[in-house]
Amino acid sequence: MKDQALHITNAILFDEDMALKGDREVREVRVEDNVITVTIAVEKANDVKTRYAMEDAIRDAIQAQIPGVQARIISLAIDGEDEPQAACAHSHGSASELPPKKPIPGVKRVWLVCSAKGGVGKSTVALNTALALKAQGHTVGLLDLDLYGPSIPALVGSDLPPIVVGNLIVPPEIHGLNVLSIGFMIEKDQPLMWRGPMVAGVINQLLWEVDWSGNDDLVIDMPPGTGDTYLSILQSIQVDAAIIVTTPSQLALADVRRGVAVFEPYGVKIAGVVENMATYDWEGRESILRLLDDIKVLDEKSQKSIARIKKILDTTRTIHIFGTHTQALCDEIKLPLIASIPLDIALQNDNDSGTPYMLNPKKKNIQASFETIAKFLCDLENP
Ligand SMILES: Nc1ncnc2c1ncn2[C@@H]1O[C@H](COP(=O)(O)OP(=O)(O)O)[C@@H](O)[C@H]1O
Ligand SMILES: [Mg+2]
Repeated sequence: MKDQALHITNAILFDEDMALKGDREVREVRVEDNVITVTIAVEKANDVKTRYAMEDAIRDAIQAQIPGVQARIISLAIDGEDEPQAACAHSHGSASELPPKKPIPGVKRVWLVCSAKGGVGKSTVALNTALALKAQGHTVGLLDLDLYGPSIPALVGSDLPPIVVGNLIVPPEIHGLNVLSIGFMIEKDQPLMWRGPMVAGVINQLLWEVDWSGNDDLVIDMPPGTGDTYLSILQSIQVDAAIIVTTPSQLALADVRRGVAVFEPYGVKIAGVVENMATYDWEGRESILRLLDDIKVLDEKSQKSIARIKKILDTTRTIHIFGTHTQALCDEIKLPLIASIPLDIALQNDNDSGTPYMLNPKKKNIQASFETIAKFLCDLENP
């Protein structure tokens, strides 16, 4: 495994397409259980962006080619014959080793909407929380950083390209939010296959080459997982807090438990957990109960059958599709459970039709969930 990782690393490190300057070498390849740590030295003349791009490319390649391993790439900037000057632990290490984080110019607060898994409702929560923040009178930006699966264009029902003023991209105003997604800038059906170095470049563009000024809040819809995009963001921008979205299934919660550790070295505060698709209220139940009450039953057998049907219907009052494990996990990891959003057909339909739920909420409890998240974030500011 060690030799294979070394081989993969060398192939990328000495690839002519890799925009690295000067000498470079692999200092160490260490294998512990399923974690491969590769330490590389490159000349100081290479800026941080280039080093991160190289780290990303090597990590991606090792993880793609050696199944089941997790790769950590550490690049050291050296000055000619000198020993490492500035150690930069991209994938691990303490915050003190990392380059200073920058605030996004003109933005008061930055929130990350995260999860280790895809499909748990990050984009849904990010969009509707952004709208709930707006309803509280804030000016709100919404940035889709899920480069591999940008779903914000579909959720807001727009994919018009943003305009550029001077050197800066101006996010279009959609439903009163200032929205930006890589989906606005590429062809609709273009496959999103970013090479490692491109990821950092696109993220930098979406963060720093955009006029985000004037927003009270910037809600960032993060990609799933704990990969390169996460690390690039956690280490480069000043974030007020992250919220973690999960379904209540044991499987998803196991990822939450693992995922929270990723934030620690970067000093990013996790505000709490949002449980999505937590319950399902079957609306047909009430109608059937009403119909049953209309039936005039004569014989005892039919009466018993109807009583039994009512009992069965009672179990469908609130269905916990994925279980009820979130609160216990939150207690264990000492994070608040901010809100619990039910699985809802209207919410799903609104997502599919590109008309955000919070523009016309049909159910008070769902509206209240998004408002609770927004209020929770606002209160963090003035605890
Ligand atoms: N509470 C919910 N009720 C019904 N469908 C939901 C709910 N939350 C999300 N969905 C649907 O689940 C799918 C995944 O949601 P999405 O927000 O795109 O997740 P992620 O961003 O984590 O991948 C979408 O089809 C979305 O419409
Ligand atoms: Mg998404």
